[in-house]
Amino acid sequence: MSLISSTMRKLSYGVYSILAMDGQRPTGCIVNTVFQITSQPAMVAISMNKDNYTYEVIKNSGRFSVSILSEESPRKVITNLGFTSGRDHDKLTELNYTMVDGLPVLEENCCGGFTCDVVSMTDAGTHMIILAAVKEATEGNSLPPMTYRYYHEVIKGGAPKNAPTYVPEEAEKPAEKEEVKYVCSICGYVHEGDIADEPEDYKCPICGVPKSMFNKA
Ligand SMILES: Cc1cc2nc3c(=O)[nH]c(=O)nc-3n(C[C@H](O)[C@H](O)[C@H](O)COP(=O)(O)O)c2cc1C
Repeated sequence: MSLISSTMRKLSYGVYSILAMDGQRPTGCIVNTVFQITSQPAMVAISMNKDNYTYEVIKNSGRFSVSILSEESPRKVITNLGFTSGRDHDKLTELNYTMVDGLPVLEENCCGGFTCDVVSMTDAGTHMIILAAVKEATEGNSLPPMTYRYYHEVIKGGAPKNAPTYVPEEAEKPAEKEEVKYVCSICGYVHEGDIADEPEDYKCPICGVPKSMFNKA
């Protein structure tokens, strides 16, 4: 990993769902990049990959919601929203949400959420920086918000290709000493120990693929 990549890795983030209405159909994705820009008026920015279907939906509708995942938010939230595309999946069918101000806001043990109207979009190459005005907030629970560090270290999830923090696996992780590890080729989840020791129906706890999709680290 280059010094730039390893130093950038020390930046802190949270884990959020971004939901929007694709006509009558709710859809969305996971992001780690929600930043408060100002408080008066309340404005946020998100970094959204141009290949994400959610970007197209936000571009067309001009609106989205942000929900703040907690450490107790079920793994299926990240699996469904962060590793499949709304182009070919109805991602919200298995997830609980409420409609607020015409937008879906995720429940699923979230710490709260808010709705946003897009103010401007700035082209940043692979991603668009979307600046938005916060319109309405919802109360959530008082569980600790999920940090990106918690996602990496406790859930042991990786950053998928469209996340701004993605670093290709080979460059990201030089092989570690003797301990045997297997890495999920889809989401980067690291399995400590030999994957062959897991039962035949073992599935990646993050993205749900079978053990045949793991490679030795
Ligand atoms: C932990 C995590 C963080 C992510 N952060 C971002 C992000 O900040 N920006 C982004 O564009 N995609 C991010 N992604 C990737 C999208 O969630 C993913 O590409 C999703 O499948 C896009 O779905 P869509 O095509 O329905 O929009 C992240 C995914 C995960 C699991």
